[in-house]
Amino acid sequence: MMLFFIKPRIITALLLFLVVSISLQTCQVNSQCSKGCDLALASYDVWRGSNVTLIADLFSVPVSTLLSWNPATLPDRDTVIAGTRVNIPFPCDCINGNFLAHVFNYSVSSGDTYDIVASHFYANLTSTTWLRRFNSYPENNIPDAGVLNVTVNCSCGNKAISKDYGLFITWPIEVGDTLESVASANNLSADLISRYNPTANFTAGSGLLFIPAKGKLLQLDVIELD
Ligand SMILES: *[C@@H]1O[C@H](CO)[C@@H](O)[C@H](O)[C@H]1NC(C)=O
Ligand SMILES: *[C@@H]1O[C@H](CO)[C@@H](O)[C@H](O)[C@H]1NC(C)=O
Ligand SMILES: *[C@@H]1O[C@H](CO)[C@@H](O)[C@H](O)[C@H]1NC(C)=O
Ligand SMILES: *[C@@H]1O[C@H](CO)[C@@H](O)[C@H](O)[C@H]1NC(C)=O
Ligand SMILES: *[C@@H]1O[C@H](CO)[C@@H](O)[C@H](O)[C@H]1NC(C)=O
Ligand SMILES: *[C@@H]1O[C@H](CO)[C@@H](O)[C@H](O)[C@H]1NC(C)=O
Ligand SMILES: *[C@@H]1O[C@H](CO)[C@@H](O)[C@H](O)[C@H]1NC(C)=O
Repeated sequence: MMLFFIKPRIITALLLFLVVSISLQTCQVNSQCSKGCDLALASYDVWRGSNVTLIADLFSVPVSTLLSWNPATLPDRDTVIAGTRVNIPFPCDCINGNFLAHVFNYSVSSGDTYDIVASHFYANLTSTTWLRRFNSYPENNIPDAGVLNVTVNCSCGNKAISKDYGLFITWPIEVGDTLESVASANNLSADLISRYNPTANFTAGSGLLFIPAKGKLLQLDVIELD
């Protein structure tokens, strides 16, 4: 009698244990981050026809902050030089416990497509695939007055590689970039960049790199932020 009474309980307990441990495991597999960091930089490839106001608006950053981070490439609010790269500060968040990124709001203009928003306005800091994933609008029916979620990936570093770097630049690989050219543009060794980006494919001319930006922090001491 006693046995029949206990058995179902044991089975229930076992089942519960199984369910809990399985869900804990799945949780661990899906959970890639628990917290973000206050600051990351986006490397924005300036295109002909863009301007400081537009770039500041796209990333919800004050013009003065944008200028202070780029004394060489943005000498004043009326000058942008196509083909240079501008560093844009942004907070790096842990999105749904899955990955590090920040979601920017983009106000749609008539004629915008996911392709144009990713490769033109956001200078390949996001991708068409990534826009489709975070926006419910069908590709061929984006409302003119809509707001798009523009998700830009970021990094807060990797203690297993080095504890020296806490600030990272999200760098879209453009056609013509090589490991060596990116290394010299950032005054870093090619080896350090490849350790942080083991799967980078320069032949494809696309994708994102995460580049340590330790030296850039020095600017914070010299230049006043808002
Ligand atoms: C900046 O560029 C945008 C898009 O090309 C344009 O609509 C806007 O008038 C420009 N603003 C200034 C101040 O030049
Ligand atoms: C985007 O819009 C949402 C909803 O209006 C707001 O909560 C969020 O702070 C905005 N994000 C940015 C980066 O401005
Ligand atoms: C983004 O990538 C596309 C495809 O490689 C390229 O044509 C375009 O010029 C890039 N955008 C910018 C702003 O560099
Ligand atoms: C951003 O990161 C996620 C997770 O690692 C990845 O799946 C996605 O392709 C990345 N997006 C871009 C635009 O590189
Ligand atoms: C943007 O993301 C927010 C929060 O996840 C969501 O509520 C909203 O519907 C998204 N916007 C579009 C256009 O899908
Ligand atoms: C590059 O790094 C070296 C060593 O860290 C430093 O001496 C040099 O001034 C840097 N050059 C530039 C242009 O930042
Ligand atoms: C790198 O990209 C090129 C061009 O898209 C592709 O042919 C090649 O297979 C890729 N290499 C790796 C290792 O994924």
